[in-house]
Amino acid sequence: MVLQPDRPDWWRDAAIYQVYPRSFADGNGDGTGDLAGIRARLPYLAELGFDAVWFNPWYPSPLKDGGYDVADYRSIDPVFGTLEEAEKLIAEALDLGIRTVVDIVPNHVSSEHPWFRAALAAPVGSPERELFHFAEGRGENGELPPNNWKSEFGGCPWTRIADGQWYLHLFATEQPDLNWAHPLVRQEHEEILRFWFDRGAAGVRIDSAGLLTKEPGLPSFELGVDTHPFVDRDDLHDIYRSWRAIADSYEQPRVLIGEIWVPDTERFARYLRPDELHTAFNFDFLARPWAAAELRASIDGTLAAHAPVGAPATWVLCNHDVTRTVTRYGRADTRFQFSAKAFGTPTDRALGVRRARAAALLSLALPGSLYMYQGEELGLPEVEDLPLSTLQDPMHFRSGGTDPGRDGCRVPIPWSGDAAPYGFAPEGVEPWLPQPEDWAALTVAAQTGDPDSMLELYREALRIRRERIGGEFGWLPADPEVLSFRRADGFGCLVNLGAEPVALPGGAAPLLASGPLAEDGTLPADTAVWFEILDTRL
Ligand code: NOJ
Repeated sequence: MVLQPDRPDWWRDAAIYQVYPRSFADGNGDGTGDLAGIRARLPYLAELGFDAVWFNPWYPSPLKDGGYDVADYRSIDPVFGTLEEAEKLIAEALDLGIRTVVDIVPNHVSSEHPWFRAALAAPVGSPERELFHFAEGRGENGELPPNNWKSEFGGCPWTRIADGQWYLHLFATEQPDLNWAHPLVRQEHEEILRFWFDRGAAGVRIDSAGLLTKEPGLPSFELGVDTHPFVDRDDLHDIYRSWRAIADSYEQPRVLIGEIWVPDTERFARYLRPDELHTAFNFDFLARPWAAAELRASIDGTLAAHAPVGAPATWVLCNHDVTRTVTRYGRADTRFQFSAKAFGTPTDRALGVRRARAAALLSLALPGSLYMYQGEELGLPEVEDLPLSTLQDPMHFRSGGTDPGRDGCRVPIPWSGDAAPYGFAPEGVEPWLPQPEDWAALTVAAQTGDPDSMLELYREALRIRRERIGGEFGWLPADPEVLSFRRADGFGCLVNLGAEPVALPGGAAPLLASGPLAEDGTLPADTAVWFEILDTRL
């Protein structure tokens, strides 16, 4: 399969669309998105101008964590389709110029994975159990968990089984952690990488990439100790070096993209050294509120951290784990403007939309690659009033119901029509999560051709980005409430995060704005403009 050998560095500035398969398009009418639905919509993605698509997990899974509980890494869940269809999808996408990035989940498996079933069936101390972290409990009768760690989803990350041993799961109970000190675990995942690369995947997104290895003996977490027992451990780098060698062994090298939540930028950049991962998601940017000083600090910090290792930055406003952009930026309380989920936080939808439009132009103009989560191009809000009975996310349940969970950003995409299922599924079919009644104006059909729509803004911005934007980044002089920068090729971007209108720099010819400029040519609050720099002194 030919992956456009003319652009081996495509990942350095790619625009990548994130598809959550369950919620993208339902091709077979069962209320759940699937590969047939995606294949039918590939022209939409190609026409929007994306270079690649990252698919959230599509493997056989009991769906205890939206597919991040994988029962078989070499196959497709029947609810989505077949492996043959996935191969066709990868090939068809490539014919349209779109590369495929597959999600791999190495930290844990589903409790239905054959390895874990075998481990449960095998006795204490057996080789089957060594593939996971089984341990005796503390306390007189082993009735207390083996250590004091906390689950990433809240609560205790240990579950006790009938023979008295406990097993570790940093996420849900149904996601037992693999023991990465075991050679078979490494070997298995190297084979899984090859499996998908051989089928034409241009790259992989590595789930929970900073958590795989654990401190030997699994000691309790202690405050003030420098090394964490399971986050960002030094021995991870050895794993990613061997993965890079595999990715590089292909005639058209494949790409490794890490999901790494490590706040220390220097530690973060270590994963991006030239013989490790190619890129990693920039969660710092996504976690900032709508404030110029915050976003400027994030951009500066990101570029400074990436420069020494020669890796491109990534820009991410949203994904399947966080609150939709128009909702979080519309929240009056800036503490909730980052990704957090929150019940009942007052939100100004129109303000959120204005800011999300400006944020789209900001992120699309920055140097590096960009990830856009499905539905962001439509300006979908977080659905915050899903009936409790429809919620599925373990985060909601493990928080004892205090956290709304992540279902609100996973509601199926509205494609057309005036009522649910809005073309997501055939009429009369109920989608797996209910869609709001007021989404008729947000469908792809309703927005197509409307120059004021979010969809047309993204379409136009992606076109200009592809044709026009490149080169070194540099800040232009501006008020503290304003972000103003240029790219070496004479392209500029100005974002007004303050309350007052601001003037465009002299010699700036507007190319595209996220909202109307004032009659006197100034840029209103919460608006961004792209411009051509005609004055060479800028
Ligand atoms: C990160 C994924 O993005 C998230 O959806 C998942 O719940 C966890 N990793 C565990 O796999």
